Amino acid sequence: MSEIIPIASDHAGVELKERLKRELVALGYAPLDMGTNSTDSVDYPDFAHPLAEKVEHGEVQRGVLLCGTGLGMSYAANRHHGVRAAVAWSPEVAQLSREHNDANVLVLPARCISEDESVEILKRWLSTPFAGGRHSRRVAKIEEGEGT
Ligand code: RB5
Repeated sequence: MSEIIPIASDHAGVELKERLKRELVALGYAPLDMGTNSTDSVDYPDFAHPLAEKVEHGEVQRGVLLCGTGLGMSYAANRHHGVRAAVAWSPEVAQLSREHNDANVLVLPARCISEDESVEILKRWLSTPFAGGRHSRRVAKIEEGEGT
């Protein structure tokens, strides 16, 4: 069965979301569109939180968010326990977010990168495993500081 990958955006990322959904299907994944579905102005947390909850609760392994800069979506998603949402603006950053940080949500800055760049970032992120080793210790320490 194809892996379900939830994907959500605000109005700034809605067009790019359509392109990435097609790419996900072509790569053999099952994108789950969690909105928004028009260019009408919306509030990014309303879309980040429901997607992050799916990752937090283990309903899915990973997800993709888009907004203008990637920042607002990442702030909201990273409020969720166990969620590591990484803003990636290049394939190299996407790769390192997986290898070193075990990112489980990819956040794309739709107003700052081209569609083609986004596709390369998405592909690199999906295909890169976590490196483990010393990085496991560091990732574990992220949540040690929660609520302090
Ligand atoms: C929307 O105008 C914009 O603020 C949003 O897409 C995002 O960049 C916020 O972080």
